[in-house]
Amino acid sequence: MTRAVVRGVGHYLPERVMENSEFESFLETSDDWIRSRSGIERRHIAAEGEATSDLAANAARNALAMARLDASDLDAIIVATSTPDLTFPSAATMVQHKIGMTGGFAFDVQAVCAGFVFAMANANALIISGQAKRVLVIGAETFSRILDWTDRTTCVLFGDGAGAVILEAVESTGDKTDRGILATDLNSDGSQREILYVDGGVTTGTTGHLRMEGREVFRHAVEKLASTAHTALGKAGLDDSDVDWIVPHQANLRIITATARKMGLPMENVVLTVQDHGNTSAASIPLALSVGYERGQIKEGDLLVTEAIGGGLAWGSVVLRW
Ligand code: ACO
Repeated sequence: MTRAVVRGVGHYLPERVMENSEFESFLETSDDWIRSRSGIERRHIAAEGEATSDLAANAARNALAMARLDASDLDAIIVATSTPDLTFPSAATMVQHKIGMTGGFAFDVQAVCAGFVFAMANANALIISGQAKRVLVIGAETFSRILDWTDRTTCVLFGDGAGAVILEAVESTGDKTDRGILATDLNSDGSQREILYVDGGVTTGTTGHLRMEGREVFRHAVEKLASTAHTALGKAGLDDSDVDWIVPHQANLRIITATARKMGLPMENVVLTVQDHGNTSAASIPLALSVGYERGQIKEGDLLVTEAIGGGLAWGSVVLRW
């Protein structure tokens, strides 16, 4: 059978780093409050004129370099984002042009913070159905542009960045010891729109700002993340004890800790980047994959579980052997 195997990984973070203490000059908040409630210490903020597709293209170039591939070796690009440069065309087609890819196809996936998980599941389906051999999957966001910088309950939590993974078709035995994507689990519940949304778009004539009922989102996250991870592991014929690394959506240290606890795994088995990146929505998992690989945490053959939840609500998990 065919598996979608990771061939390359890379990331890009905007140059400007914003420390928690900077918020103290214009909001009634503190470094201590932000750290203790979220685990976040700093985040990167895109420069003026630096668009989501720029971040994505830089991450893509880094992943291609690591894989020793050219843009012409790719069949498809999927960009997971809720902050595309424009309403259309897709950020993915912009990336396609920026990295010099003239063939194949490109499209965006929008599932907010769960976007990368949804994009990986789509890429996996394209590969195992024979529609593509190599797919570049990117999570890229400039959430700084949709934040209400006067709302201390939301703006302290997010950041900008991009991460990219190249998946390649490899013939495998079909065993759970194979490298590649072993299982996926996707879910959504449109009835929960009001707890996390952006109050603008084409119907309002404004870009809008992120609005969130933090406690409600927290409650859903803790309940749903371990559950989707268990479902995906079950589909792969695996359980918690097989997991080398949880690579969670990096929203909040308390959510990540609670999920690891529910999975019976110590924090030593969790790739953590939330302290340095904040919540970069769809970019957070590929950023964590790339940073975790660079740090030497993630090694070939390791069993990884990624899990994410975001606006929609939309949530899911991908189990893969690196
Ligand atoms: N600085 C200081 N005080 C603040 C701040 C701030 N930045 N933000 C809120 N407060 C205040 C509140 O106004 C409130 O004051 P009050 O009691 O006088 O009304 C107090 O702190 C406590 O507020 P809570 O909302 O109860 O604080 P909580 O402990 O729940 O933490 C947080 C808030 C961090 C948002 C938490 O609910 C959370 O992490 N929720 C998950 C949200 C999330 O991660 N969303 C990301 C998008 S979805 C996703 O990626 C999963």
